[in-house]
Amino acid sequence: MWCVFILLCACVLVDGQNCRGEEPRLRDCERVCDDHGRCRIRAALLLPKNTTYGACLAAVEPVLELAMQDTAVREAFPAGVDFEWLTYDVTDCDAAYAVISAIDAYNDCAHVFFGPACDFALASVARISKFLGGTGTPLVTTGGFTFDFVKPKQTCQDEFYMLVRAGPLGFEDLAYFLIETMRHFEWRQLLLITEPEAQVHVGGKSTCHLMMKSFANFLKMEEIIYTPWDTTSDAGLNYTENLKFYLGYKYTTPKRMDIRSSIK
Ligand SMILES: *[C@@H]1O[C@H](CO)[C@@H](O)[C@H](O)[C@H]1NC(C)=O
Ligand SMILES: *[C@@H]1O[C@H](CO)[C@@H](O)[C@H](O)[C@H]1NC(C)=O
Repeated sequence: MWCVFILLCACVLVDGQNCRGEEPRLRDCERVCDDHGRCRIRAALLLPKNTTYGACLAAVEPVLELAMQDTAVREAFPAGVDFEWLTYDVTDCDAAYAVISAIDAYNDCAHVFFGPACDFALASVARISKFLGGTGTPLVTTGGFTFDFVKPKQTCQDEFYMLVRAGPLGFEDLAYFLIETMRHFEWRQLLLITEPEAQVHVGGKSTCHLMMKSFANFLKMEEIIYTPWDTTSDAGLNYTENLKFYLGYKYTTPKRMDIRSSIK
């Protein structure tokens, strides 16, 4: 999968434009080839060291190194182009650390960013990467799950221009899996139960909250009725009591309702 990423970023490198509407001001260090004809692409890995996160430096770096040994990947680049991997610890996948890591990487003349993979951290970096360097700095990530990242990214006006989402899955896909399931069984409404800060290893802070936001967005679009239940606002009640509160009689069939009204 990573080979696809690298091919993609090679295309982006060739095709950039300056999003500030200025003449590109190339710093000397941004040139891929030096005066002696030595060519080297500097790729910055912006990922946490903390191994709690699925996409951490210790997990991703070896994968990239392995990918670089593959002939298909090597042949994708002109002969004699080296890769240099620079690593930056995005402490705990935090957005502020992600921005400062990206600035460090820019100062170190990185040509391309790999990561961050956590949604909040990614959003901060992806918003500025189009302004970094003469023609913007491409950003490749397996993250970017929330639906905002799925929107078009072809022009400078697009919020996340220069971002390439190379992951296999986003929350939009999960939402449509849910929607198709609902339609298949002819179910009409659902209760969305979320623990907002769970699964941080997947997409960082608020992974489940962002997933629920994405679900809500598409359920609304598809006109499926949903009730959100954030388990952290329990009103002092336990799960059993809250389930009763949220479900109520909303899921009883019309038939049973008839019986109940006839009993009255
Ligand atoms: C790694 O991240 C997790 C989740 O944010 C945190 O609870 C833990 O303390 C971190 N570990 C270290 C060593 O910083
Ligand atoms: C939840 O609270 C109710 C009422 O206080 C109690 O009867 C029930 O046993 C509780 N359930 C659990 C799983 O604690």
